[in-house]
Amino acid sequence: MQVSNLLFAKSAANALQSWCNEKGFDSVYFLCDTNTYQYCYPVFKEISDKVIVIPSGETNKQLRMIETIVEHLVAFGAKQNHLLVNLGGGVVTDIGGFAASIYRRGMKCVNIPTTLMGMADAAIGGKTGVDHQHLKNYIGTFYQPEMVLISTEFLATLPYEEFNSAWAEMIKTGAILDAGLFKMIEEDALLDDILKRCAECKQSVVQMDVYDRSHRQLLNFGHTIGHAYESHYLNIAQPVKHGIAVAKGMLAELEIAKNSAYLTELEATRIQVLIQAKMSVEPMTSEEWTEVKKLLWADKKNTGTEITFSLPVAIGKGKFGIKMKEEEIKI
Ligand SMILES: NC(=O)c1ccc[n+]([C@@H]2O[C@H](COP(=O)([O-])OP(=O)(O)OC[C@H]3O[C@@H](n4cnc5c(N)ncnc54)[C@H](O)[C@@H]3O)[C@@H](O)[C@H]2O)c1
Repeated sequence: MQVSNLLFAKSAANALQSWCNEKGFDSVYFLCDTNTYQYCYPVFKEISDKVIVIPSGETNKQLRMIETIVEHLVAFGAKQNHLLVNLGGGVVTDIGGFAASIYRRGMKCVNIPTTLMGMADAAIGGKTGVDHQHLKNYIGTFYQPEMVLISTEFLATLPYEEFNSAWAEMIKTGAILDAGLFKMIEEDALLDDILKRCAECKQSVVQMDVYDRSHRQLLNFGHTIGHAYESHYLNIAQPVKHGIAVAKGMLAELEIAKNSAYLTELEATRIQVLIQAKMSVEPMTSEEWTEVKKLLWADKKNTGTEITFSLPVAIGKGKFGIKMKEEEIKI
């Protein structure tokens, strides 16, 4: 399966209009959340006034939202060869991609990420889905959008904490896949340059392994523990930002990598220092770790008695499919 093209543009509206003309899409629907409808959709008004608006936030990333979207698409008379534009952060592109993948057995979609997290990671790679109650991304599909259109024009209205939490995925990508990217982040290179390198890096690893059976699993660094942390807080109705959960997950998994001699203390510290410098995130407390451990065993990637990790073995290089027993996991 071919992974969707990345298109970087100064004006997303102009780029989308030209692309739709070129591809012959004349029926276009937008999926927004309440914030992206207010802050991002206005530049696309001329392209289509058919907009589906869903409530913002991770707690709405549930199956019932798919039904809502399908009802709107039916009311619009949407057909397989019409285009759904997912305009938003990772929540909108995950939900919208999923809806597109099952609506009449698959309609075309485009992702236009509006958060830094979406631009660097979430909108790219074709993993779609929703949470099942507190279980993250338990229901979903692999479905490639026709294109991912990235324009940093939308970042101006993004709240600081949303911007800040996105560093987690960019540091993760550098730490486990691309030493050059890691160095660019350490050296405070231009955001546009970091973003482009990160997005292309993700796209190339996805292209090697679209269905997440091997190399793509490197992107799970920080996510085994991070997802359990995120699930724990979803479970008690205090959702935390995905990026913060991933940062906490990376800090913990770096301890595991160090304690089990996958990574030198020097390199683990270098990654931990960058996470803490960029994001001001502290390692999880022992009370949190107790709760997270319980959920780790419910994670879909783990089998009975072992937990599976992807860990860096040097900066820019990683190993996936590392299985550990409970007693081997020390943070
Ligand atoms: N599919 C994947 O490969 C993948 C990868 C990483 C993360 N994810 C998923 O992505 C989600 C997190 O994504 P996110 O961090 O983008 O969160 P998000 O989509 O919830 O967006 C964060 C907040 O910012 C608001 N917002 C978005 N764009 C805005 C803008 N331009 N101006 C003002 N406000 C704006 C949103 O309404 C929301 O309140 C999680 O559900 C995670 O599981 C998916």
